[in-house]
Amino acid sequence: MIAPSILAADFARLADATASVRGADWLHVDVMDGHFVPNLTIGLPVVEALLATTDIPMDCHLMIDDPDRWAVAYAEAGAHNVTVHVEAAADPVKVAHDLRAAGALAGLSIKPRTPFEPYVELLAHYDTLLVMSVEPGFGGQEFRSEVLEKVRTARKLVDTGRLKVLIEIDGGINADTIEQAAEAGVDCFVAGSAVYNAEHPARAIRALRESAAAASAHLRL
Ligand code: DX5
Ligand code: ZN
Repeated sequence: MIAPSILAADFARLADATASVRGADWLHVDVMDGHFVPNLTIGLPVVEALLATTDIPMDCHLMIDDPDRWAVAYAEAGAHNVTVHVEAAADPVKVAHDLRAAGALAGLSIKPRTPFEPYVELLAHYDTLLVMSVEPGFGGQEFRSEVLEKVRTARKLVDTGRLKVLIEIDGGINADTIEQAAEAGVDCFVAGSAVYNAEHPARAIRALRESAAAASAHLRL
């Protein structure tokens, strides 16, 4: 699955940004509060407006403090998947429960330096695991391949039935990096600049999907 991140789109033309990525599996929306991360983007009113412009399932990545208070509103608005950061949530089990009760998938994200193992039990309450492959806050950063160790561990747990999550990766995914991420076992690839800086975003999505499928063919044997 490919999830273009509208962080790299033209914010003055967000309706065009959803139209130009037809064929995307999910639409990734980065919500930043200027506290959890040193950047400020968009919040619920803009997400609601975006939801009205597209049928692509929305993947809201909340890089905010106190997701315990704010996350459920994104689910209630109609987001398909709502991801909170484990470093920010006070009661991540309750957050997941609230998100699911509101009809969304519940996602848990870990920053590049946050280990994965302590949260294996917690992930039983979640539907998606978002492994950050850059420090959250900005698009266009370089891919940090060392996080793929966490992807490999998660993949093993999923394949052996110990975990039931979709594995997502976010940050620095492009034509050069997607194959190693796919080989490690990622299911869903977030890509901002690689999609929106391309001349034909929809074509870029298809190319990324093909590279990922080819590189992960061995996992399906
Ligand atoms: C970074 C965001 C990413 C960002 C990825 O904090 O979470 O979703 O948009 O952008 P690229 O693909 O350009 O690294
Ligand atoms: Zn993101």
